[in-house]
Amino acid sequence: MSTIVTKAHELILGSLNKDIAVDATCGNGYDTLFLLEHFKIVYAFDIQELAIKRTRAKTEGFENLYLINDDFKRINQYVKEADAIMFNLGYLPGSDRKVRTFAHNSFEAILKAYEILNSGGIMTTACYTGHEGGLEEFKKIKEALNSKGITYNIYDEFQNRDFLIEIRK
Ligand SMILES: C[S@@+](CC[C@H](N)C(=O)[O-])C[C@H]1O[C@@H](n2cnc3c(N)ncnc32)[C@H](O)[C@@H]1O
Repeated sequence: MSTIVTKAHELILGSLNKDIAVDATCGNGYDTLFLLEHFKIVYAFDIQELAIKRTRAKTEGFENLYLINDDFKRINQYVKEADAIMFNLGYLPGSDRKVRTFAHNSFEAILKAYEILNSGGIMTTACYTGHEGGLEEFKKIKEALNSKGITYNIYDEFQNRDFLIEIRK
């Protein structure tokens, strides 16, 4: 059985072009490092300075990385186009769980990210419905995508009620 992260990475590699990628929630830097190994330029966001520090340490030596300590809802103020975008929702493992993504803002960020996704591009969103607020967040994102007529696939073959949303453009 694949984990939600390995599945997200596998899907992301299906993007038509490998020029620009965005990690909307860089956390401990695992997804950013993966993106750096496959894309020419990577933008990585996180609202927590600690996550930016951890990601910087994990990606030492890479020059094609822009680390942005800001809310992912401002994604399109920094990035104008992308071939791949990853959202890995929830909280930073090993830190304050109160700082986490929420139903009231992640759907908005995902809709903004969709606007900058290039055709042939792929966006993945990992949702953890076992976490506090996670189920509500997952439902809100699906509702927002449905209301905009954006089609998506859901992968649910993981442990712990994790769901991966894939959007192709
Ligand atoms: C599950 S972790 C991400 C894991 C990460 N992708 C990795 O590879 O280690 C979720 C991250 O989302 C961040 N986050 C929460 N709300 C955010 C927001 N509004 N904008 C950007 N990042 C946010 C948290 O600080 C946390 O680091």
